[in-house]
Amino acid sequence: MTEAMSSTTQLRGKRRADFVMVANRLAVERVFEGDGSPAWRTSPGGLVTALVPIMQAKDGAWVGWHGAPDEELEPFDHDGIDMVPVRLSQQEVTDYYEGMSNATFWPLYHDSVAFPEYHREWWDAYEVVNRRFAEAAAEAAEEGGTVWVQDYQLQLVPKLLRELRPDLRIGFFLHIPFPPAELFQQLPWRRAVLEGLAGADLVGFQVPGAASNFLRLVKRLVGWDTQRQEFIRPDGTRGRAAAYPISIAFDTFDALARRPEVVARARSIREELDADVVFLGVDRLDYTKGIRQRVQAFGELFRDGELDPARAVFVQVATPSRVRVDEYRRLRDDIDQMIGHINGTLGGLARTPIKYLHQGFPHDEVAALYAAADVMVVTPLRDGMNLVAKEYVACRTRGDGALVLSEFAGAAQELKQAWQVNPYDINGMKRTIVEAYRAPRREQVRRMRALRRQVAAHDIDRWAETFLDDLRRQR
Ligand code: G6P
Repeated sequence: MTEAMSSTTQLRGKRRADFVMVANRLAVERVFEGDGSPAWRTSPGGLVTALVPIMQAKDGAWVGWHGAPDEELEPFDHDGIDMVPVRLSQQEVTDYYEGMSNATFWPLYHDSVAFPEYHREWWDAYEVVNRRFAEAAAEAAEEGGTVWVQDYQLQLVPKLLRELRPDLRIGFFLHIPFPPAELFQQLPWRRAVLEGLAGADLVGFQVPGAASNFLRLVKRLVGWDTQRQEFIRPDGTRGRAAAYPISIAFDTFDALARRPEVVARARSIREELDADVVFLGVDRLDYTKGIRQRVQAFGELFRDGELDPARAVFVQVATPSRVRVDEYRRLRDDIDQMIGHINGTLGGLARTPIKYLHQGFPHDEVAALYAAADVMVVTPLRDGMNLVAKEYVACRTRGDGALVLSEFAGAAQELKQAWQVNPYDINGMKRTIVEAYRAPRREQVRRMRALRRQVAAHDIDRWAETFLDDLRRQR
Protein backbone atom coordinates (compact mmCIF):
# COMPACT_ATOMS: atom_id res chain seq x y z
CA MET A 1 0.00 0.00 0.00
CA THR A 2 3.00 2.27 0.43
CA GLU A 3 3.53 4.59 -2.47
CA ALA A 4 6.90 6.08 -3.26
CA MET A 5 7.73 9.74 -2.68
CA SER A 6 8.44 10.08 -6.40
CA SER A 7 4.76 10.54 -7.30
CA THR A 8 4.72 13.57 -5.02
CA THR A 9 6.10 16.94 -6.09
CA GLN A 10 6.27 20.20 -4.18
CA LEU A 11 4.15 23.11 -5.46
CA ARG A 12 5.91 26.47 -5.68
CA GLY A 13 3.92 29.47 -4.41
CA LYS A 14 0.26 29.45 -3.48
CA ARG A 15 -2.40 28.64 -6.06
CA ARG A 16 -6.09 29.35 -5.65
CA ALA A 17 -8.61 26.81 -6.83
CA ASP A 18 -12.14 27.11 -8.12
CA PHE A 19 -13.04 23.86 -6.35
CA VAL A 20 -11.76 22.96 -2.89
CA MET A 21 -12.35 19.75 -0.99
CA VAL A 22 -11.84 19.93 2.77
CA ALA A 23 -11.53 16.71 4.79
CA ASN A 24 -9.79 15.84 8.05
CA ARG A 25 -7.45 13.58 6.11
CA LEU A 26 -5.62 14.13 2.86
CA ALA A 27 -5.77 11.28 0.35
CA VAL A 28 -2.34 10.16 1.53
CA GLU A 29 -0.78 9.95 4.97
CA ARG A 30 2.83 10.38 5.88
CA VAL A 31 4.49 7.30 7.28
CA PHE A 32 8.05 6.53 8.25
CA GLU A 33 9.71 3.38 6.95
CA GLY A 34 11.81 1.04 9.10
CA ASP A 35 14.97 3.05 8.32
CA GLY A 36 13.24 6.32 9.32
CA SER A 37 12.78 7.65 5.78
CA PRO A 38 9.41 9.30 5.04
CA ALA A 39 6.94 7.84 2.51
CA TRP A 40 3.28 8.25 1.54
CA ARG A 41 0.54 5.70 1.96
CA THR A 42 -3.13 5.83 0.93
CA SER A 43 -5.18 7.06 3.90
CA PRO A 44 -7.58 4.58 5.51
CA GLY A 45 -11.37 4.50 5.20
CA GLY A 46 -14.20 4.80 2.74
CA LEU A 47 -14.14 8.59 2.57
CA VAL A 48 -10.79 8.66 0.80
CA THR A 49 -11.72 5.76 -1.53
CA ALA A 50 -14.79 7.72 -2.61
CA LEU A 51 -13.21 11.16 -3.00
CA VAL A 52 -9.97 10.34 -4.83
CA PRO A 53 -11.59 9.59 -8.22
CA ILE A 54 -13.63 12.82 -8.01
CA MET A 55 -10.55 14.91 -7.30
CA GLN A 56 -8.54 13.20 -10.02
CA ALA A 57 -11.20 14.23 -12.52
CA LYS A 58 -11.28 17.85 -11.31
CA ASP A 59 -8.64 20.53 -11.21
CA GLY A 60 -9.13 21.36 -7.55
CA ALA A 61 -7.30 21.49 -4.22
CA TRP A 62 -7.66 19.12 -1.28
CA VAL A 63 -7.20 20.65 2.18
CA GLY A 64 -6.52 18.12 4.97
CA TRP A 65 -4.23 16.70 7.62
CA HIS A 66 -1.35 14.51 6.44
CA GLY A 67 -1.49 12.17 9.43
CA ALA A 68 1.80 13.03 11.15
CA PRO A 69 1.59 15.19 14.31
CA ASP A 70 3.70 18.32 14.73
CA GLU A 71 4.88 18.39 11.12
CA GLU A 72 4.43 21.45 8.91
CA LEU A 73 4.44 20.68 5.18
CA GLU A 74 4.19 22.85 2.08
CA PRO A 75 1.43 22.18 -0.48
CA PHE A 76 2.37 19.32 -2.84
CA ASP A 77 1.04 17.43 -5.83
CA HIS A 78 0.22 13.77 -5.41
CA ASP A 79 -0.97 11.73 -8.39
CA GLY A 80 -2.40 14.82 -10.04
CA ILE A 81 -4.18 16.25 -6.98
CA ASP A 82 -3.08 19.52 -5.29
CA MET A 83 -2.75 18.67 -1.62
CA VAL A 84 -2.80 21.46 0.98
CA PRO A 85 -1.64 20.05 4.33
CA VAL A 86 -3.04 21.35 7.62
CA ARG A 87 -0.80 21.02 10.69
CA LEU A 88 -2.01 19.32 13.90
CA SER A 89 0.03 19.30 17.10
CA GLN A 90 0.33 16.09 19.12
CA GLN A 91 -2.01 17.60 21.73
CA GLU A 92 -4.56 18.43 19.02
CA VAL A 93 -4.37 14.88 17.68
CA THR A 94 -5.22 13.71 21.21
CA ASP A 95 -8.02 16.20 21.90
CA TYR A 96 -9.54 17.06 18.52
CA TYR A 97 -9.00 13.83 16.53
CA GLU A 98 -8.85 10.94 19.04
CA GLY A 99 -11.00 12.73 21.63
CA MET A 100 -13.81 14.93 20.32
CA SER A 101 -14.00 13.35 16.84
CA ASN A 102 -13.50 9.69 17.67
CA ALA A 103 -14.49 9.25 21.33
CA THR A 104 -17.43 11.72 21.32
CA PHE A 105 -19.00 12.29 17.87
CA TRP A 106 -18.19 8.86 16.42
CA PRO A 107 -19.93 6.77 19.14
CA LEU A 108 -22.75 9.32 19.66
CA TYR A 109 -23.61 9.38 15.95
CA HIS A 110 -23.45 5.56 15.72
CA ASP A 111 -26.40 4.88 18.04
CA SER A 112 -24.11 5.23 21.12
CA VAL A 113 -22.95 1.63 20.57
CA ALA A 114 -19.97 2.72 22.71
CA PHE A 115 -20.35 5.32 25.45
CA PRO A 116 -19.62 8.86 24.14
CA GLU A 117 -17.35 10.89 26.42
CA TYR A 118 -17.82 14.62 26.90
CA HIS A 119 -14.74 16.69 27.80
CA ARG A 120 -14.63 20.46 27.62
CA GLU A 121 -10.95 20.58 26.64
CA TRP A 122 -11.68 18.28 23.70
CA TRP A 123 -14.39 20.66 22.54
CA ASP A 124 -12.02 23.63 22.84
CA ALA A 125 -9.49 21.86 20.62
CA TYR A 126 -12.26 20.94 18.16
CA GLU A 127 -13.16 24.63 17.80
CA VAL A 128 -9.53 25.70 17.35
CA VAL A 129 -8.82 23.05 14.71
CA ASN A 130 -12.08 23.68 12.83
CA ARG A 131 -11.12 27.35 12.62
CA ARG A 132 -7.69 26.39 11.21
CA PHE A 133 -9.33 24.25 8.50
CA ALA A 134 -11.78 27.06 7.68
CA GLU A 135 -8.89 29.52 7.32
CA ALA A 136 -6.93 27.13 5.13
CA ALA A 137 -9.99 26.62 2.90
CA ALA A 138 -10.62 30.38 2.74
CA GLU A 139 -7.05 30.85 1.57
CA ALA A 140 -7.18 28.06 -1.00
CA ALA A 141 -10.45 29.06 -2.71
CA GLU A 142 -10.78 31.44 -5.63
CA GLU A 143 -13.33 34.30 -5.59
CA GLY A 144 -16.83 32.83 -6.04
CA GLY A 145 -15.47 29.26 -5.89
CA THR A 146 -17.00 26.12 -4.43
CA VAL A 147 -15.85 24.49 -1.20
CA TRP A 148 -17.03 21.03 -0.22
CA VAL A 149 -16.46 20.16 3.45
CA GLN A 150 -16.50 16.50 4.51
CA ASP A 151 -17.53 14.64 7.63
CA TYR A 152 -17.97 14.83 11.41
CA GLN A 153 -14.47 16.08 12.22
CA LEU A 154 -15.28 19.43 10.54
CA GLN A 155 -18.86 20.30 11.45
CA LEU A 156 -18.07 23.89 12.45
CA VAL A 157 -16.23 24.71 9.22
CA PRO A 158 -19.27 25.69 7.08
CA LYS A 159 -20.34 28.52 9.41
CA LEU A 160 -16.78 29.75 10.03
CA LEU A 161 -16.04 29.71 6.32
CA ARG A 162 -19.24 31.54 5.48
CA GLU A 163 -18.19 34.32 7.88
CA LEU A 164 -14.71 34.51 6.37
CA ARG A 165 -15.76 34.21 2.72
CA PRO A 166 -19.43 35.05 2.04
CA ASP A 167 -18.70 34.87 -1.72
CA LEU A 168 -18.15 31.09 -1.63
CA ARG A 169 -20.63 28.35 -2.41
CA ILE A 170 -20.36 25.91 0.52
CA GLY A 171 -21.41 22.26 0.60
CA PHE A 172 -21.10 19.82 3.49
CA PHE A 173 -21.42 16.03 3.42
CA LEU A 174 -21.67 13.79 6.48
CA HIS A 175 -20.32 10.30 5.76
CA ILE A 176 -21.57 8.78 9.01
CA PRO A 177 -25.12 8.55 10.43
CA PHE A 178 -26.82 11.60 11.93
CA PRO A 179 -28.63 10.56 15.12
CA PRO A 180 -32.21 11.19 16.21
CA ALA A 181 -32.94 14.02 18.70
CA GLU A 182 -33.07 11.62 21.69
CA LEU A 183 -29.35 10.93 21.28
CA PHE A 184 -28.10 14.19 19.76
CA GLN A 185 -29.55 16.18 22.66
CA GLN A 186 -26.94 14.76 25.04
CA LEU A 187 -24.27 16.81 23.35
CA PRO A 188 -23.37 19.83 25.52
CA TRP A 189 -22.43 21.81 22.37
CA ARG A 190 -25.45 20.74 20.33
CA ARG A 191 -26.51 24.19 19.20
CA ALA A 192 -23.02 25.18 18.04
CA VAL A 193 -22.80 22.00 15.96
CA LEU A 194 -26.18 22.54 14.30
CA GLU A 195 -25.34 26.18 13.52
CA GLY A 196 -21.92 25.12 12.26
CA LEU A 197 -23.45 22.69 9.75
CA ALA A 198 -26.20 25.12 8.79
CA GLY A 199 -23.54 27.52 7.53
CA ALA A 200 -23.50 25.38 4.38
CA ASP A 201 -25.78 26.08 1.42
CA LEU A 202 -26.35 22.35 1.07
CA VAL A 203 -25.94 19.80 3.88
CA GLY A 204 -25.81 16.24 2.53
CA PHE A 205 -26.48 13.01 4.42
CA GLN A 206 -26.32 9.33 3.47
CA VAL A 207 -30.04 8.56 3.98
CA PRO A 208 -33.26 10.62 4.09
CA GLY A 209 -33.87 9.84 7.79
CA ALA A 210 -30.61 11.59 8.75
CA ALA A 211 -31.58 14.73 6.82
CA SER A 212 -34.96 14.82 8.60
CA ASN A 213 -33.26 14.33 11.98
CA PHE A 214 -31.11 17.37 11.20
CA LEU A 215 -33.97 19.58 10.02
CA ARG A 216 -36.09 18.71 13.03
CA LEU A 217 -33.21 19.56 15.37
CA VAL A 218 -32.51 22.88 13.64
CA LYS A 219 -36.12 23.84 14.19
CA ARG A 220 -36.31 22.62 17.76
CA LEU A 221 -32.91 23.58 19.19
CA VAL A 222 -31.85 26.52 17.03
CA GLY A 223 -35.36 27.90 16.60
CA TRP A 224 -35.14 28.52 12.83
CA ASP A 225 -38.05 27.93 10.49
CA THR A 226 -37.84 24.99 8.14
CA GLN A 227 -39.85 24.40 4.97
CA ARG A 228 -39.72 20.94 3.46
CA GLN A 229 -35.98 20.33 2.93
CA GLU A 230 -34.94 23.93 3.60
CA PHE A 231 -33.94 25.83 6.75
CA ILE A 232 -34.21 29.61 6.92
CA ARG A 233 -31.50 31.61 8.69
CA PRO A 234 -32.35 34.77 10.68
CA ASP A 235 -31.02 36.94 7.79
CA GLY A 236 -33.53 35.32 5.44
CA THR A 237 -31.00 33.22 3.48
CA ARG A 238 -31.81 29.56 2.99
CA GLY A 239 -29.92 26.30 3.09
CA ARG A 240 -31.02 22.80 2.19
CA ALA A 241 -30.56 19.37 3.80
CA ALA A 242 -31.07 16.19 1.77
CA ALA A 243 -29.83 12.63 1.21
CA TYR A 244 -27.07 11.71 -1.28
CA PRO A 245 -26.11 8.05 -0.75
CA ILE A 246 -22.38 7.83 -1.48
CA SER A 247 -20.91 5.15 -3.75
CA ILE A 248 -17.73 3.84 -5.36
CA ALA A 249 -16.06 4.04 -8.77
CA PHE A 250 -17.86 0.93 -10.07
CA ASP A 251 -15.98 0.73 -13.38
CA THR A 252 -12.60 1.00 -11.66
CA PHE A 253 -13.31 -1.89 -9.29
CA ASP A 254 -14.91 -3.94 -12.06
CA ALA A 255 -11.85 -3.42 -14.28
CA LEU A 256 -9.48 -4.16 -11.40
CA ALA A 257 -11.20 -7.49 -10.72
CA ARG A 258 -10.87 -8.41 -14.43
CA ARG A 259 -7.11 -7.78 -14.55
CA PRO A 260 -5.28 -11.06 -15.30
CA GLU A 261 -2.99 -10.66 -12.24
CA VAL A 262 -6.00 -10.18 -9.96
CA VAL A 263 -7.84 -13.14 -11.49
CA ALA A 264 -4.71 -15.26 -11.01
CA ARG A 265 -4.26 -14.03 -7.46
CA ALA A 266 -7.91 -14.88 -6.63
CA ARG A 267 -7.28 -18.40 -7.93
CA SER A 268 -4.15 -18.80 -5.83
CA ILE A 269 -5.99 -17.51 -2.72
CA ARG A 270 -8.59 -20.24 -3.27
CA GLU A 271 -5.84 -22.84 -3.61
CA GLU A 272 -4.08 -21.64 -0.46
CA LEU A 273 -7.31 -21.67 1.52
CA ASP A 274 -8.16 -25.13 0.19
CA ALA A 275 -11.84 -24.90 1.20
CA ASP A 276 -15.14 -25.59 -0.56
CA VAL A 277 -16.68 -22.40 0.72
CA VAL A 278 -15.01 -19.10 1.62
CA PHE A 279 -16.72 -16.45 3.75
CA LEU A 280 -15.14 -13.00 3.95
CA GLY A 281 -15.30 -9.90 6.18
CA VAL A 282 -13.30 -6.73 5.42
CA ASP A 283 -13.45 -3.80 7.85
CA ARG A 284 -11.49 -1.20 9.71
CA LEU A 285 -11.16 -2.69 13.20
CA ASP A 286 -14.02 -0.61 14.61
CA TYR A 287 -16.65 -1.46 17.23
CA THR A 288 -19.43 -0.14 14.95
CA LYS A 289 -18.72 -2.87 12.38
CA GLY A 290 -20.27 -5.71 14.39
CA ILE A 291 -17.12 -7.86 14.20
CA ARG A 292 -17.68 -9.31 17.70
CA GLN A 293 -21.18 -10.48 16.74
CA ARG A 294 -19.98 -11.86 13.40
CA VAL A 295 -17.13 -13.85 15.00
CA GLN A 296 -19.56 -15.14 17.62
CA ALA A 297 -21.94 -16.30 14.87
CA PHE A 298 -19.18 -18.10 12.92
CA GLY A 299 -17.79 -19.64 16.12
CA GLU A 300 -21.18 -21.18 16.86
CA LEU A 301 -21.71 -22.33 13.27
CA PHE A 302 -18.38 -24.17 13.37
CA ARG A 303 -18.95 -25.49 16.90
CA ASP A 304 -22.43 -26.83 16.13
CA GLY A 305 -21.33 -28.51 12.93
CA GLU A 306 -23.42 -26.32 10.61
CA LEU A 307 -20.12 -25.37 9.02
CA ASP A 308 -17.41 -27.97 8.76
CA PRO A 309 -13.93 -26.54 9.51
CA ALA A 310 -12.50 -29.08 7.05
CA ARG A 311 -14.59 -27.59 4.23
CA ALA A 312 -15.38 -23.97 5.13
CA VAL A 313 -13.24 -21.02 6.13
CA PHE A 314 -14.05 -17.52 7.34
CA VAL A 315 -11.45 -14.91 6.40
CA GLN A 316 -11.62 -11.68 8.42
CA VAL A 317 -9.48 -8.74 7.36
CA ALA A 318 -9.46 -6.01 10.02
CA THR A 319 -7.35 -2.96 9.26
CA PRO A 320 -5.88 -1.36 12.41
CA SER A 321 -7.62 1.94 13.14
CA ARG A 322 -7.45 4.70 15.80
CA VAL A 323 -5.14 2.48 17.79
CA ARG A 324 -4.60 4.95 20.65
CA VAL A 325 -8.32 5.27 21.49
CA ASP A 326 -9.25 3.00 24.47
CA GLU A 327 -12.39 1.51 22.99
CA TYR A 328 -10.43 0.37 19.90
CA ARG A 329 -7.75 -1.27 22.08
CA ARG A 330 -10.42 -3.17 23.99
CA LEU A 331 -11.96 -4.33 20.72
CA ARG A 332 -8.60 -5.53 19.40
CA ASP A 333 -8.01 -7.57 22.57
CA ASP A 334 -11.54 -9.03 22.51
CA ILE A 335 -11.28 -10.10 18.88
CA ASP A 336 -7.81 -11.60 19.40
CA GLN A 337 -9.18 -13.57 22.32
CA MET A 338 -12.41 -14.73 20.65
CA ILE A 339 -10.69 -15.89 17.49
CA GLY A 340 -7.84 -17.51 19.46
CA HIS A 341 -10.40 -19.47 21.45
CA ILE A 342 -12.38 -20.62 18.40
CA ASN A 343 -9.29 -21.66 16.43
CA GLY A 344 -7.71 -23.24 19.51
CA THR A 345 -10.71 -25.41 20.28
CA LEU A 346 -12.11 -26.14 16.82
CA GLY A 347 -9.06 -26.08 14.55
CA GLY A 348 -6.71 -28.90 13.70
CA LEU A 349 -3.03 -29.06 12.81
CA ALA A 350 -3.73 -28.25 9.18
CA ARG A 351 -6.92 -26.19 9.68
CA THR A 352 -7.95 -22.93 11.27
CA PRO A 353 -11.64 -22.13 10.80
CA ILE A 354 -11.07 -18.37 11.06
CA LYS A 355 -8.17 -16.73 9.21
CA TYR A 356 -7.68 -13.39 10.89
CA LEU A 357 -5.58 -10.73 9.16
CA HIS A 358 -5.06 -7.69 11.35
CA GLN A 359 -3.47 -5.54 8.64
CA GLY A 360 -4.24 -3.30 5.68
CA PHE A 361 -3.94 -4.47 2.05
CA PRO A 362 -3.62 -2.68 -1.29
CA HIS A 363 -6.71 -2.42 -3.49
CA ASP A 364 -5.67 -5.18 -5.89
CA GLU A 365 -5.21 -7.71 -3.08
CA VAL A 366 -8.61 -6.79 -1.62
CA ALA A 367 -10.17 -7.11 -5.08
CA ALA A 368 -8.66 -10.61 -5.38
CA LEU A 369 -10.11 -11.50 -1.97
CA TYR A 370 -13.55 -10.27 -3.05
CA ALA A 371 -13.27 -12.30 -6.23
CA ALA A 372 -12.24 -15.38 -4.22
CA ALA A 373 -15.04 -15.21 -1.63
CA ASP A 374 -18.34 -17.05 -2.05
CA VAL A 375 -20.10 -15.06 0.66
CA MET A 376 -19.28 -11.54 1.84
CA VAL A 377 -20.45 -10.80 5.37
CA VAL A 378 -20.99 -7.11 6.23
CA THR A 379 -22.70 -6.79 9.60
CA PRO A 380 -22.26 -3.31 11.14
CA LEU A 381 -24.33 -2.36 14.20
CA ARG A 382 -24.66 1.04 12.55
CA ASP A 383 -22.92 2.42 9.44
CA GLY A 384 -23.42 5.60 7.42
CA MET A 385 -23.17 3.70 4.11
CA ASN A 386 -20.53 0.89 3.97
CA LEU A 387 -18.58 0.94 0.75
CA VAL A 388 -17.06 -2.53 1.25
CA ALA A 389 -20.48 -3.99 0.42
CA LYS A 390 -20.52 -2.03 -2.86
CA GLU A 391 -16.90 -2.93 -3.66
CA TYR A 392 -17.68 -6.65 -3.30
CA VAL A 393 -20.59 -6.30 -5.71
CA ALA A 394 -18.43 -4.41 -8.24
CA CYS A 395 -15.72 -7.10 -8.09
CA ARG A 396 -18.15 -10.01 -8.78
CA THR A 397 -17.61 -9.71 -12.52
CA ARG A 398 -19.10 -13.16 -13.21
CA GLY A 399 -22.32 -12.09 -11.50
CA ASP A 400 -22.22 -14.69 -8.73
CA GLY A 401 -21.44 -14.60 -5.00
CA ALA A 402 -23.68 -13.71 -2.09
CA LEU A 403 -23.79 -10.55 0.03
CA VAL A 404 -24.98 -10.76 3.65
CA LEU A 405 -25.67 -7.20 4.78
CA SER A 406 -26.78 -5.57 8.03
CA GLU A 407 -30.04 -3.67 7.83
CA PHE A 408 -28.29 -0.96 9.91
CA ALA A 409 -25.88 0.00 7.11
CA GLY A 410 -26.99 2.90 4.91
CA ALA A 411 -26.22 0.61 1.95
CA ALA A 412 -29.13 -1.66 2.95
CA GLN A 413 -31.58 0.97 1.71
CA GLU A 414 -30.22 0.55 -1.83
CA LEU A 415 -28.94 -3.03 -1.85
CA LYS A 416 -32.30 -4.67 -1.39
CA GLN A 417 -31.26 -7.94 -3.04
CA ALA A 418 -28.65 -8.67 -0.38
CA TRP A 419 -29.42 -11.21 2.34
CA GLN A 420 -30.24 -8.69 5.07
CA VAL A 421 -29.63 -9.38 8.76
CA ASN A 422 -30.05 -7.81 12.18
CA PRO A 423 -26.53 -8.21 13.66
CA TYR A 424 -27.90 -8.08 17.23
CA ASP A 425 -29.87 -11.26 16.51
CA ILE A 426 -27.10 -13.89 16.48
CA ASN A 427 -29.43 -16.81 15.69
CA GLY A 428 -31.06 -14.89 12.85
CA MET A 429 -27.66 -13.94 11.48
CA LYS A 430 -26.46 -17.58 11.61
CA ARG A 431 -29.58 -18.74 9.78
CA THR A 432 -29.18 -16.13 7.05
CA ILE A 433 -25.44 -16.79 6.56
CA VAL A 434 -26.21 -20.50 6.03
CA GLU A 435 -29.17 -19.67 3.77
CA ALA A 436 -27.05 -17.36 1.63
CA TYR A 437 -24.33 -19.91 1.01
CA ARG A 438 -26.74 -22.79 0.43
CA ALA A 439 -28.91 -20.79 -1.97
CA PRO A 440 -28.98 -22.27 -5.49
CA ARG A 441 -26.51 -20.62 -7.84
CA ARG A 442 -29.44 -19.38 -9.95
CA GLU A 443 -30.81 -17.46 -6.96
CA GLN A 444 -27.38 -16.01 -6.11
CA VAL A 445 -26.86 -14.88 -9.70
CA ARG A 446 -30.32 -13.30 -9.91
CA ARG A 447 -29.64 -11.25 -6.78
CA MET A 448 -26.06 -10.35 -7.67
CA ARG A 449 -27.02 -9.14 -11.15
CA ALA A 450 -29.61 -6.81 -9.64
CA LEU A 451 -27.06 -5.54 -7.11
CA ARG A 452 -24.51 -4.91 -9.84
CA ARG A 453 -27.03 -2.95 -11.91
CA GLN A 454 -27.87 -0.81 -8.88
CA VAL A 455 -24.26 0.02 -7.99
CA ALA A 456 -23.21 0.54 -11.63
CA ALA A 457 -26.04 3.03 -12.17
CA HIS A 458 -25.41 4.88 -8.89
CA ASP A 459 -21.66 5.25 -8.87
CA ILE A 460 -19.42 7.89 -7.33
CA ASP A 461 -19.53 10.22 -10.36
CA ARG A 462 -23.29 10.34 -10.22
CA TRP A 463 -23.14 11.03 -6.46
CA ALA A 464 -20.78 13.98 -6.88
CA GLU A 465 -22.62 15.39 -9.91
CA THR A 466 -25.99 15.23 -8.19
CA PHE A 467 -24.68 16.91 -5.05
CA LEU A 468 -22.79 19.63 -6.92
CA ASP A 469 -25.71 20.34 -9.29
CA ASP A 470 -28.04 20.76 -6.31
CA LEU A 471 -25.46 22.99 -4.61
CA ARG A 472 -25.25 25.21 -7.70
CA ARG A 473 -29.02 25.43 -7.83
CA GLN A 474 -29.28 26.28 -4.15
CA ARG A 475 -26.86 29.21 -4.45
C1 G6P B 1 -14.65 6.71 8.22
C2 G6P B 1 -14.90 8.20 8.37
C3 G6P B 1 -13.78 9.01 7.71
C4 G6P B 1 -12.43 8.54 8.21
C5 G6P B 1 -12.27 7.03 8.01
C6 G6P B 1 -10.95 6.48 8.55
O1 G6P B 1 -14.80 6.33 6.89
O2 G6P B 1 -16.17 8.56 7.85
O3 G6P B 1 -13.94 10.39 7.98
O4 G6P B 1 -11.39 9.21 7.57
O5 G6P B 1 -13.34 6.37 8.67
O6 G6P B 1 -10.79 6.83 9.88
P1 G6P B 1 -9.56 7.72 10.36
O7 G6P B 1 -9.89 8.08 11.78
O8 G6P B 1 -8.37 6.84 10.24
O9 G6P B 1 -9.49 8.93 9.49
